[in-house]
Amino acid sequence: LPVSVYTDSEQASAAVARQIADLIRQRAAEGRNCVLGLATGSSPTRVYEELVRLHREEGLSFRNVVSFNLDEYYPMAPDSLQSYVRFMHEYLFDHVDIRPENVHIPDGTVPQEQVADYCRRYEEQIREAGGIELQLLGIGRTGHIGFNEPGSGASSRTRIITLDHITRTDAASDFYGEENVPRRALTMGVGSILEAKKIVLLAWGEGKAAVVKRMVEGEPTDTVPATYLQRHPAVQVVLDDAAGAELT
Ligand code: F6R
Repeated sequence: LPVSVYTDSEQASAAVARQIADLIRQRAAEGRNCVLGLATGSSPTRVYEELVRLHREEGLSFRNVVSFNLDEYYPMAPDSLQSYVRFMHEYLFDHVDIRPENVHIPDGTVPQEQVADYCRRYEEQIREAGGIELQLLGIGRTGHIGFNEPGSGASSRTRIITLDHITRTDAASDFYGEENVPRRALTMGVGSILEAKKIVLLAWGEGKAAVVKRMVEGEPTDTVPATYLQRHPAVQVVLDDAAGAELT
C-alpha cells in the first residue's frame, strides 16, 4: 500500500483537503458532480475544518458535491449527540453550500424489518450517482474500515453489523459509558468501499501504529478487514509519524 507519512496530522489533513478541493473544482469546471465517500470520527475532523476554510476564504463551492457517509450507529436518532448525521452537520455540512438533497448518511431510525431493503437502496443510490470517486476512511483498532469489524469479508455489502467490543470501548467516552454505546451499526461493506475509484485512509497517533502495520504489511484476511485495501489499485495511506512508527 502506498504510504505518505507527515510530521503532524495538521499538515497531512491540509494536503488531503487540498486534494479533495482540487477534485471538486475539476469536476465543477467540467460541469459534473463530484461524488465523495465520507467518514466520521476524530481522524477526518481537520480535513473538514480545512475544507470549510477553503469554502469561506477561497470560494470553494460544494454545489456540485454529492456525499455518501460510510456508517451510522443502529439504532440512532439523527438529532442525538452521538449521531453521525449530527457530526457531519457540525463539522462540514452546516458550514458549506452543499445541497441538502445531495447528502446521504445511513439512517439509524429505519425499522429493523426494512434494514435489508434500505441497505440495498443505499447502494443503488451510490450507483445512480455514478459511483464514489474519492472515499475517505479512518481505521479502527480492530482493523475495521467503516464499521466492517473482524469477520467482514472482501465482498461484504452495505448491511447491519454487530460492533466489536474494542470499538464499543473506544466509543465509550462519547456515550458517557460503554453500556450506552449501541451494539450495532449500519455500514457500507468492504466490497462497497473497494468500488470507490480512489481511497484515502487517514490514521493519527501511536494508538493506531499496530493496526496500521497489520493493514500495510499483513496478509489480506478478514480478521483485519482493512488489509483488503491491498487489493485496490488506488489507495493512499496518510499517516502522522506516530501512526507510522511500527512500519518496517
Ligand atoms: C467512521 C468510521 C470508522 C472510523 C474509525 C476510526 O465513519 O467509519 O471506521 O473511521 O473507527 O475512528 P477515529 O477516527 O475516531 O479514530
